[in-house]
Amino acid sequence: MSSSSCPPYESVPSIYSHHDQLWAGTPPHFLDHFYEDLDDREDDVWLTSYPRSGTAWAYAVLWAVFHRGDIAALQKAQSENRILKFQPVEVGCDASVTDRITTWRTLPSPRVIPTHLPYRLFPGSVLDRRRKRVYVVRNPKDVAVSFYHFHRSHRLLGFYKGSWNDFFECFISGRLIYGSWFDHTLGWLPHVRQNEGRVLMLRYADMQRDLAAQALRIGAFLDRSITPQAASAIARHCSFKNMSANPFTNREGDPIMDFSIARFLRKGIVGDWENYFTEEQKKRFDEEWDRKMGGADKTMGLDLYE
Ligand code: A3P
Repeated sequence: MSSSSCPPYESVPSIYSHHDQLWAGTPPHFLDHFYEDLDDREDDVWLTSYPRSGTAWAYAVLWAVFHRGDIAALQKAQSENRILKFQPVEVGCDASVTDRITTWRTLPSPRVIPTHLPYRLFPGSVLDRRRKRVYVVRNPKDVAVSFYHFHRSHRLLGFYKGSWNDFFECFISGRLIYGSWFDHTLGWLPHVRQNEGRVLMLRYADMQRDLAAQALRIGAFLDRSITPQAASAIARHCSFKNMSANPFTNREGDPIMDFSIARFLRKGIVGDWENYFTEEQKKRFDEEWDRKMGGADKTMGLDLYE
């Protein structure tokens, strides 16, 4: 592949480099000030992840747990704008940064604040003040495939026209927005492990296997205990099928995305990477995994490679 196609954003005006990382649609001044501007609160819950790990899914479940599985109450809060549609806090604030900050500041508590910021750029005061955090992880091979389709369908990412093979090179070398999956994950993991009780790790594969069980875990973590019946109602409400059909969660009509290319909720499965990775790509990725992750997968309880 030509070096000009990696990163794949050569002529995309919304992409720029700041703090040693590529960004899309996030003005530098927002990054430098957003934390102070957000009006920190004791009961804020920060939701962190590398993109395409199941963040919007976790966001939906968190809000359903906050409403203890009362879906009518949840929908009322959404219709009254007490809950924002999923959008990482640092994204999409180019023209209206002030409006966006104002929106966050005027939201009632508790707030769930999603972000894909790497650990090194995450606001230190949130860590110092020990705000609750939820960290979502997913098998990086599935993340790569999902991110590929996201790039194809996203205006701020230039409606990527390149091939999967070229995108794979960008992903494995970390030359994408939010940088390398490996660096991002290795940045967060020690913190997640050292702060059990304040940080809850959710694995995409576990959510797939038994979402109700994960809802119960989230309830215990947020001090919002829920009944098994409520957990089942949450699992139903947040199923792929229901979230895909729900305009609040599926981002249909979002002018920044072209759903005719790929939907925001695209396939929602574990293992789609097998339809994309060649044998050679799998081998190279596994070698990179061993080299970068070492024993972290098992010792840190990630178990992503299953
Ligand atoms: P796919 O592209 O593999 O379908 P994020 O919100 O972090 O950007 O992650 C997006 C990924 O999570 C997409 O993966 C999307 O389909 C998946 N996802 C979102 N909601 C889901 C749900 N209810 N069930 C399963 N997967 C879901």
